Amino acid sequence: MGKEQILYDDGTHKCIMFSLDDEEVEDFFLSVNQFLIIQNNSAVLIDPGSEAVYEELREAVSKHISLDRIKYIFFSHQDPDVAASITHWSIATQAEFIISKLWIRFLSHYGFMEMSRLLPLEDGGAKIGFGQEYLRFVPAHFLHSPGNFSLYDSRSQILFSGDIGAAIVPNDTLNNEAKSFHNRLEYLEPFHKRYMAGNRACRKWSSEVRKLPLKAIAPQHGAPFDTAEDISAFLEWFEGLQCGMDLED
Ligand SMILES: [Fe+2]
Ligand SMILES: [Fe+2]
Repeated sequence: MGKEQILYDDGTHKCIMFSLDDEEVEDFFLSVNQFLIIQNNSAVLIDPGSEAVYEELREAVSKHISLDRIKYIFFSHQDPDVAASITHWSIATQAEFIISKLWIRFLSHYGFMEMSRLLPLEDGGAKIGFGQEYLRFVPAHFLHSPGNFSLYDSRSQILFSGDIGAAIVPNDTLNNEAKSFHNRLEYLEPFHKRYMAGNRACRKWSSEVRKLPLKAIAPQHGAPFDTAEDISAFLEWFEGLQCGMDLED
């Protein structure tokens, strides 16, 4: 069952997390979050996910804002649980699509053909105005995709971190029980050790993230880290993590 949670709301700026799952494939369950940032009359949709959740997500988003108000749709990277529904969204909205320039050539394999609506991100990232605030695309390459970005929303001070910080949990209940950093470590560790390329990439991302005032880190799988203790415990763990090529032997 899908659910939603308001992560931030000050009256003019709102961040919403949807956790929609594909019930037909429960046996191979991967709990996925999708995010929406709304400021006044415009919105950004983050990692809308697969075709399996498209209908439900479109309905859930429509309850908050009209789909023609979605200005940007951002994909942290190219994976199917992030971007496979791109063609549906290109029909349902007039949005521009933001993704690393590395993945532009691959999107047609999801059936997407409207290349003029793509805003490819250079490796160094970008900062774009959004209402009176800005959105910053923070490079997160090789964590785990070679063309990967986190999205920082300056107003809410939430970092949408894609697969970084993802807890691979078997179901929703556990998701909530395993909320504190130490309780969810067992769901973070195997995923990060295998899917992240190496400690050097972890340290580079962490040092950039540490420069940002942060209220929460919201990953694509599992609950957000939303206390100062959990954010700092997570960053400390992540920058010390041996993963990927570090464990080659
Ligand atoms: Fe991924
Ligand atoms: Fe993912």
